[in-house]
Amino acid sequence: MTQVGIIGAGPAGLMLSHLLHRQGITSVVLERRRRDYVERRVRAGVLEQGSTDLLASTGVGERMQREGLAHDGIKLRFAGEEHRIDFRRLTGRGITVYGQQEVVKDLIKQRLADGGEIWFEAEATAIEGIDGDHPRIAYRRNGEEATLSCEFVAGCDGSHGVSHAGLEAKSYERSYPFSWLGILAKTPPASNELIYAYHERGFALHSMRSPGISRLYLQVEAGDRMDAWPEARIWDELRLRLAEPKLQPGEIIEDGITPMRSMVMEPMQCGRLFLAGDAAHIVPATGAKGMNLALADVKVLAEALTAWYRSRSHDLLDRYSELCLGRVWRAEHFSAWMTALLHRDPAGDPFDHKLRLSYLRYIVTSEAAATTLAENYVGFEGA
Ligand code: FAD
Ligand code: PHB
Repeated sequence: MTQVGIIGAGPAGLMLSHLLHRQGITSVVLERRRRDYVERRVRAGVLEQGSTDLLASTGVGERMQREGLAHDGIKLRFAGEEHRIDFRRLTGRGITVYGQQEVVKDLIKQRLADGGEIWFEAEATAIEGIDGDHPRIAYRRNGEEATLSCEFVAGCDGSHGVSHAGLEAKSYERSYPFSWLGILAKTPPASNELIYAYHERGFALHSMRSPGISRLYLQVEAGDRMDAWPEARIWDELRLRLAEPKLQPGEIIEDGITPMRSMVMEPMQCGRLFLAGDAAHIVPATGAKGMNLALADVKVLAEALTAWYRSRSHDLLDRYSELCLGRVWRAEHFSAWMTALLHRDPAGDPFDHKLRLSYLRYIVTSEAAATTLAENYVGFEGA
């Protein structure tokens, strides 16, 4: 028995458990994978100011402040040119490059130091009784079936979890005819800032994790598999699309192909079940919003649960979806817009190509257009 049963030890579930603990609310996190697996899973890398503030103000930002890379802008490359979008000048804010698995490591360490319960290799199989006061999570651990009783269930189990199956909600979705091939490589970043490149052969992104490790992405066709991409082909294509002579091949320590998808569940709650992060919404990675949305959701959910446990007030819980969805849809729009702007459609429509180039030129010549990109990228706070 615990107060809040949390499914999933990604950024959403771990941060929720941490925030609840700080308010004296108990939780158990059920995670189907092993600890080393979740700590090694390479995914997002960009933290908005709101996310870094949340980590720092709740005592889990010390390593991020030390090792995270503060960036004040990005570079856009297209048509053989490079332009800088200066976030700091346009919005007064910047971003921090710090890997998602580092955030996950920091949160797990803190939860365990605080005596928190994270049950690894415990897979939730069903959620029961969400219309009553004592919902239950059925789970499987070490081959045994068991049940966790709680007062609320937080579905933080990502896009392939079980919790959204229990929700009566409308799902809004879009798929894209391409994927991202991502690598993590032992090579120094060839640029001090992220490079987003639009090229006739497709999109490429140069990101980084540390002075010796680069994170690089290529647009590939939906359905492409890694065996079609030997290392030499990856490096050739990166060099061509990024038009970056300083980029040196290095040992590839991680690779994978991720489909691009957009999805929103509305509402994000039903009875005593509340979804947060990728369980409730997915964005294509072009806007770097996934992890930030996950952290922002659980901040709202923790405040709502705190109000309930303090004074039995359910106003914030009732309004949880409404309080999140404005920000979610702004990020969905921005991510779909950045994706359409920077990716070549596989049919290669020349008219669309010209429209993209025109819009890119507009962004780099109009202060208003550049500000639109910048204020959404760093996290628009009016949504
Ligand atoms: P997750 O991090 O997915 O965590 C969910 C957790 O729940 C996982 O640990 C999972 O093992 C666990 N789980 C699932 N089902 C169960 C179950 N039944 N029982 C118990 N546990 C369960 N975003 C970007 O901004 N940039 C990127 O480059 C980027 N790359 C990505 C690459 C991949 C392959 C994926 C899948 C996502 C990527 N994202 C990226 C998105 C970003 O990583 C997510 O938005 C972020 O992980 C959301 O955090 P979360 O806590 O909601 O979900
Ligand atoms: C990353 O560093 O992994 C990264 C950066 C920007 C994105 C997506 C991923 O848009």
